[in-house]
Amino acid sequence: MNGYSPIGPVVGIVGAGQLARMTQQAAIALGIELRVLAGTPDESAARVIVDTRIGDYRDLADLREFGKGCDAITFDHEHVPTEHIRALAEAGLQVHPGADALVHAQDKAVMRERLTAIGAPCPAWARVSDAAEATAFAAEHGWPLVLKAVRGGYDGRGVWVCRTEAEVTEAFAAGVPLMAEAFVPFERELAVLVARSPHGQGVSYPVVETVQQDGICVEVLAPAPGLDPEEAAQAQRVALNIAHELGVTGLLAVEMFQTAGGLVVNELAMRPHNSGHWTIEGARTSQFEQHLRAVLDLPLGSPSMTAPVVVMANLLGGDDPDLFKRYEHVMAHDPGVKVHFYGKEVRPGRKIGHVTVTGDDLTAVRARARHAAVHLATGEYT
Ligand SMILES: Nc1ncnc2c1ncn2[C@@H]1O[C@H](COP(=O)(O)OP(=O)(O)OP(=O)(O)O)[C@@H](O)[C@H]1O
Ligand SMILES: [Mg+2]
Repeated sequence: MNGYSPIGPVVGIVGAGQLARMTQQAAIALGIELRVLAGTPDESAARVIVDTRIGDYRDLADLREFGKGCDAITFDHEHVPTEHIRALAEAGLQVHPGADALVHAQDKAVMRERLTAIGAPCPAWARVSDAAEATAFAAEHGWPLVLKAVRGGYDGRGVWVCRTEAEVTEAFAAGVPLMAEAFVPFERELAVLVARSPHGQGVSYPVVETVQQDGICVEVLAPAPGLDPEEAAQAQRVALNIAHELGVTGLLAVEMFQTAGGLVVNELAMRPHNSGHWTIEGARTSQFEQHLRAVLDLPLGSPSMTAPVVVMANLLGGDDPDLFKRYEHVMAHDPGVKVHFYGKEVRPGRKIGHVTVTGDDLTAVRARARHAAVHLATGEYT
């Protein structure tokens, strides 16, 4: 770019969605220069980051060109081919997380194998190559049976909860490699966000509850209400141990199920995560700042909360694309609500932003967050 020379360290983020966009806010304060690799100039982060490069994250030549001059490379999604990540590291770039860690967030079967090996609590699971093998697994472990795309699933796409053999056959008709898991009769879903730096420092945010609807996270409650402190500490230990054993550098989000029999790990993400958006206002160090600190091998920031209760509610797109006209009501109704809009085209059901409310009383804070989120997304009043 003409006349552009960075003053601080340069962190390159492959992918230009809302996670990269929100990382820019933290980078501004720290004087860190962000560069993003976007597919097109209209992507969420490309709209706000000066040093946007256009290219294909599946193309090694594009990735190499992108990495030139970056002090660290990281990701806004898990779809960069593992072998390309390895090639970038072999060329001398600081890539965080590295390929050997990230593969556990890319491939659910590899993740299950490794978690089982290190003794992290998992449901019964197996690689299955056809409907007959999946049905045999269900005969042993019971129905319903959960089938998951080994790679590429998100927001519940790529997860099939099957109650009959016909549903198993239907899932295989998707034509992607699947694995089987026993259905976990969970009480609720939790998430633990930790950060680990290349020099081995680790920190954990408080355990949160994530509320899902139709496979999409709609609400995050921090800290997880009523969670026994012993169980919370155990969840944090499990997450920090996974980060250590897998050699994760940067953030690691561990999605868990809380069951009557204890905690069970669902899946891993190695980047800022939807379950951590509350940290922008709700923690001393936002997850975005923490990720930048970690990938640059700086000392990590305090994960402590700024208020006793924090609630984040996602904005899912409705039929009306014009959110901005509803800001007035939300802002007038409740000046404490913080609105985050990702600059993404509004499509029904798509995550287009979120709101955060901090306070003392869970019921009140939750109602305020929900009111704002529902009104912004749909124009309705709750
Ligand atoms: N073994 C299981 N037993 C019961 N429910 C499950 C199981 N695995 C997944 N689920 C449900 O399906 C949801 C989506 O599963 P998972 O997190 O593996 O998929 P994903 O599409 O990769 O998710 P994400 O939206 O986090 O990217 C979980 O949040 C949970 O509600
Ligand atoms: Mg998930």
